[in-house]
Amino acid sequence: MKIAIVRESAADEPRVAATPETVGKLVALGASVSVEKGAGSGSQISDAEFREAGASIAGSGSANVKNADVIFCVRRPAASAIKGAKKGALVIGSLDPFGHEKDIEALAKAGAVAISMEFMPRISRAQSMDVLSSQANLAGYQSVIDAAAHFDRALPMMMTAAGTVHPAKVFVMGAGVAGLQAIATARRLGAIVSATDVRPAAKEQVESLGAKFIAVEDEEFKQAETAAGYAKPMSAEYQKKQAELTASHIAKQDIVITTALIPGRPAPVLVTKKMVASMKPGSVIVDLAAERGGNCEATKPGAVVAYQDVQIVGFTNVPGRIAASASQLYSRNLLTFVDTLIDAEKKELNVDWEDELVKATVLTRDGAIVHPGLIKEGAAARKPAAKKPAVKKAPAKKPAAKKPATRKTSGDS
Ligand code: NAI
Repeated sequence: MKIAIVRESAADEPRVAATPETVGKLVALGASVSVEKGAGSGSQISDAEFREAGASIAGSGSANVKNADVIFCVRRPAASAIKGAKKGALVIGSLDPFGHEKDIEALAKAGAVAISMEFMPRISRAQSMDVLSSQANLAGYQSVIDAAAHFDRALPMMMTAAGTVHPAKVFVMGAGVAGLQAIATARRLGAIVSATDVRPAAKEQVESLGAKFIAVEDEEFKQAETAAGYAKPMSAEYQKKQAELTASHIAKQDIVITTALIPGRPAPVLVTKKMVASMKPGSVIVDLAAERGGNCEATKPGAVVAYQDVQIVGFTNVPGRIAASASQLYSRNLLTFVDTLIDAEKKELNVDWEDELVKATVLTRDGAIVHPGLIKEGAAARKPAAKKPAVKKAPAKKPAAKKPATRKTSGDS
């Protein structure tokens, strides 16, 4: 059983789908692990460390995937990049299939079983395999670090002989996994934190982290959650009321962090240019929804821009800004999942195609797209595609900011 770890081909992807720790565990499961040369360099893992953990290092992508039974990746690989792998090889990663049905079809035609980790059901058994949560958690943390780096005042209250620095006011919009971690991080840094969400369940979670909950709590709000625990799109009337409430609140904030998303839809606009203009000079907005169009009207995905003296940080691939930790958690997500696909005694792959985790995540099999959600989306994708917002390239990563003391990276949400 050969497991190949690819070197990510996208220039803005520093993460890697394995670490020396997970390589050691894969070897213990009976796998021979191949790592493409330089795969870990963006996450501070050298080839030598992978080799010490039991992997062999392949000098090229094609040598790496040759005869592989399983391919681990962060982003969706091109079908050409998995040429030479065994027929029926499992390609496991964040494959981001919606809107990219042609690429998925190409993987199917190449004979791969494409497995999209984002589709992992959010059930207790699969919590340790939930890549959306592990990466959102780190993005939430990093959003506060980025906000602090662009803010030219202190976050905590500081009482000094020369006078008192008042604590910064931080408002987090969207209290899912990323938002809750942003709240916890901003609180640890001593800010005064408030937050909003359209899901009623978020209120208690926000308050339990010591932040103030801000929302229009009418009948629609009380119904605003799907059975899966996600947000529903809100009516125009609710959005208007919520916008009025948040507009007056935003004007008093130093930092706004937006994380609001609705699965499968463009990010809702929650912060208008007018609201940005109402903020004090030097205020900062970090838009974690930038990749999906942004929650702020003035966000430029992939860039940091100033709008009337307010800095708007619209980095994409925020987990990639904290790549070593993101790779560590992502790799463990993949390891825990692949463990369920291996027969421990025979030390070989033994996929139970009826397992709910497998059924939920497998996109392609036997040369065809098999995921029901994708077949439906594929049909929809034949309609003219919606115009995507212009994407500017992210600026080179800033010099590493001084990191706060080590802390738990999960469990706060
Ligand atoms: P997400 O990334 O899809 O959205 C982020 C947040 O934005 C959500 O809390 C959503 O309610 C909020 N939002 C959407 N529209 C908004 C608007 N107009 N105004 C304000 N907020 C808005 O969500 P994420 O982080 O993936 O979490 C979704 C839910 O799943 C949460 O309840 C989370 O606790 C739950 N979850 C459950 C897990 C499990 O049971 N294993 C694992 C991870 C998350």
